[in-house]
Amino acid sequence: MGNLTGRDLLSLADLSGAEILALLNLAKQLKSGEIQPDFQRKTLGLLFRKASTRTRVSFSVAIHQLGGHVIDLDPSVTQVSRGEPIEDTARVLDRYVDVLAIRTFAQAELETFAKYCKIPVINALSDLEHPCQALADLQTVEENFGKLQGLTLTYVGDGNNVAHSLLLGCALVGMNVRVATPKGFAPDPAVVAQARSLAKNSEVIVTNDPKLAAQSAHVLYADVWTSMGQEAEESQRLPIFQPYQLNAELMALADRDSIVLHCLPAHRGEEITADVIDGKQSRVWDQAENRLHAQKALLASILS
Ligand code: CP
Ligand code: NVA
Repeated sequence: MGNLTGRDLLSLADLSGAEILALLNLAKQLKSGEIQPDFQRKTLGLLFRKASTRTRVSFSVAIHQLGGHVIDLDPSVTQVSRGEPIEDTARVLDRYVDVLAIRTFAQAELETFAKYCKIPVINALSDLEHPCQALADLQTVEENFGKLQGLTLTYVGDGNNVAHSLLLGCALVGMNVRVATPKGFAPDPAVVAQARSLAKNSEVIVTNDPKLAAQSAHVLYADVWTSMGQEAEESQRLPIFQPYQLNAELMALADRDSIVLHCLPAHRGEEITADVIDGKQSRVWDQAENRLHAQKALLASILS
């Protein structure tokens, strides 16, 4: 069932390239129904400090389909929102549930949970990374092209959590990755350096030129220009990001057989045009579906 027993997933770089490929293979078998593992009596706790549709629902359905249960540890109705220390919350939850998926702001909070819990902790999105999203993204790319190695993924927009996990994930599986952002919105240099050190025979390019980045790409990827927690900057960001819109003009520069991904939620007319996200090269609904299969694989592997 995989070999990630008891492991945390705080960053996609917590996995090796081989471990990611093994998870994708497991996800494929789960998706086809070839295997049906049973994790009766296992409980997944969801502690989400930010809104979520896909991650929340796909994790809940994933553990249900594996025979286990989910508990919603909504911070607003637990003592978390009244200031109980994370160190104490972590040590208590550790005694009740078998695995925790946490969506929060600071990566440091995830690290504290992981430090004080013996059970595995999964990053369900932080300001720094979104590793579960990147697993589903890679599964979707693999499904379409029958391979990952040697393909080029171009991300246009904000150098955010999604961009960070894609940088690391692509580097780990041997894909070329290009990230095009406005000046001042580049990905974290430490993450870029980490991706470069992980990449063996593939390129990691960070640029301000979306057209250059899109040339001959196999995958074009967009995410929101304003992430959760940045709402106050939204009106300032709109004009800055306009040249980074994923539209037909940018698509025309990519490979003829290229596909379009977006982690969702999408804002048509902002980071992506309606004709592109709803067009024939778009794979966003398969990508959203794959959140379920990839996370089922992840849960099965760490609970086994
Ligand atoms: N892509 C993603 O993580 O979506 P949610 O915010 O709806 O979970
Ligand atoms: N970058 C986005 C991703 C949402 C799934 C955010 O953090 O809001």
